[in-house]
Amino acid sequence: MADKNDPIAVFDSGMGGISVLKEMVSLMPEEDFIYFGDSVNAPYGMKSVEDVRALTIDHIRYFIKEQSAKAIAVACNTATSAAVKKLRELYPEVPLVGVEPAIKPAVNSCAHPKILVMATPRTLAEEKFLNLEHLYDSQAVIYPLPCPGLMEFVEQGILSGEQLEEYLHNLMDPYLGKDLTGIVLGCTHYPFVRRTIAKIAGPNVEIFDGSLGTARELRRRIHAAGLGQSQEHKGKVDFLNSSDDPKKIELMEYLFHSDI
Ligand code: DGL
Repeated sequence: MADKNDPIAVFDSGMGGISVLKEMVSLMPEEDFIYFGDSVNAPYGMKSVEDVRALTIDHIRYFIKEQSAKAIAVACNTATSAAVKKLRELYPEVPLVGVEPAIKPAVNSCAHPKILVMATPRTLAEEKFLNLEHLYDSQAVIYPLPCPGLMEFVEQGILSGEQLEEYLHNLMDPYLGKDLTGIVLGCTHYPFVRRTIAKIAGPNVEIFDGSLGTARELRRRIHAAGLGQSQEHKGKVDFLNSSDDPKKIELMEYLFHSDI
């Protein structure tokens, strides 16, 4: 039986979900969080949907059974597209949120939206994204842009610099003459390189990510289940990683405290 004193588990293939965790902690400082990054198996975005689903389900089972997590956030677009439906079937009683590319606010932000959606190849190939794209394609021009290799910069702590700019130029240059109005960061790693993406996109392009919306939805679900921690409690965050390299935990803490 879940208890309001139990922690919330936040999961990603690596460090990216920390961008979502930051919003969750600022919205719910009273809660305890366990953040887990599966850096050993990253990147998920280049794996088959079956592999991503199996890894995600395995980790979430561990949080619920071994760590008594009262709620789950799948802070990874790739894992959400592959596994969230199955997870809801397996654990219907557990408050659980996933993430998806923030296309809706990008479409609603102006009269003639032209939007670049940057995400992993896996996310952009899955039904969840194709349905979302279809929902808005009569109101907006949507360009899906798979970014194989981008999450690896963040996993190595490279958030700016020449090498990253060159990589981004190669990907983004073909779209820069198309009068983009917005860029959707459809992978939770990408907010950490938001400044470099914004520098390349220029001042007229607004950048969107779904972290705050996900944090609000998590809070709503936890409170609806009567599992909100007391406001007097001072929450904490524990970082875990599937890799035993101590540098991974150091980088996770660095990213958590970085300004994005
Ligand atoms: N952070 C993940 C996402 O939001 C994926 C990165 C990866 O493992 O490829 O999609």
